[in-house]
Amino acid sequence: MQKKRKVLVTGALGQLGSEIRRLADGNGDFLYTDYLGSGDILALDICDAEAVAACIAEYNVGTIVNCAAYTNVEKAEDEPELCRRINCEGVAVLADAALRNKASLIQISTDFVFDGSKNIPYLETDTPSPLSVYGRTKAEAETAFIASGVKGVIIRTAWLYSPYGKNFVKTMLNLGATRSSINVVNDQTGSPTYAADLAEVILKFLPIAGRKKGEIYNYSNEGACSWYDFAAEIMRQAGLPCQVIPVSSSEYPQKAVRPSYSYLDKTKIAAELKIGVPQWQDSLQKCLDRLI
Ligand SMILES: NC(=O)c1ccc[n+]([C@@H]2O[C@H](COP(=O)([O-])OP(=O)(O)OC[C@H]3O[C@@H](n4cnc5c(N)ncnc54)[C@H](OP(=O)(O)O)[C@@H]3O)[C@@H](O)[C@H]2O)c1
Repeated sequence: MQKKRKVLVTGALGQLGSEIRRLADGNGDFLYTDYLGSGDILALDICDAEAVAACIAEYNVGTIVNCAAYTNVEKAEDEPELCRRINCEGVAVLADAALRNKASLIQISTDFVFDGSKNIPYLETDTPSPLSVYGRTKAEAETAFIASGVKGVIIRTAWLYSPYGKNFVKTMLNLGATRSSINVVNDQTGSPTYAADLAEVILKFLPIAGRKKGEIYNYSNEGACSWYDFAAEIMRQAGLPCQVIPVSSSEYPQKAVRPSYSYLDKTKIAAELKIGVPQWQDSLQKCLDRLI
């Protein structure tokens, strides 16, 4: 009998990787790695071609779910080379290893590949035009993935949060507990994504990823909002008496330019996977139930 092939989850200590680990808990078909190992998570640098090839061969990996990335959008402006190495070269290494071993690759991309000049929901077919180093490296990774000819899918997501790691929800809870008011930008519209929802979607792709070749899908929670709306809803649901004051991006200067509009249309993924996409307020509640 042929041995079942493993699912390799890279970046398993990050937000999304941790949610996949939680969902697949106890499933021996999964293998977890991150840059630094910890417990049952093996150390694997996705940029190390030899180590990646050895890992895929040794564990008979059939699907790679790449949750590893350089995700600090602000810091990336000062470290473009490192960001590019992890987000582009790392993906090229994984794609090459997957091709050689007839494995498929599930790559996670971002709404920051867009410039926000559209004011209706972004489709998978819209042309990337990134504004930041991070966005450029993620767009380049998409191109490298597709050019490699590897089987699998690219899932573009946005504004990821979870009980793990650093994210907007956890920052707002901390600020809300210590400040009477905070300023939050009100002129960037998108949609938050509860990492647990995205993890469920990724598991649904596992049986079909090998039949796709670089196909792009959008996934975030349903409903558009601004960071201000998001912050106000976090304070409301958490019962924190912190006043959220809407400000414009020009009043909150950042190094990395963000798209003013990056709401993703989910029609394609909902139809293909036959799933409903949860409203962002409902998913926020689920995350806060775990955090508070
Ligand atoms: N976070 C968001 O708002 C957001 C939005 C849209 C799309 N995405 C995409 O969604 C995916 C998951 O994001 P996330 O928020 O879960 O990321 P995350 O929490 O930052 O986790 C990424 C993980 O990858 C690890 N890593 C970095 N370089 C590596 C390397 N060379 N080899 C192996 N592992 C490495 C990181 O380790 P260290 O912590 O030690 O560096 C970290 O554990 C990423 O592709 C990201 O670009 C995220």
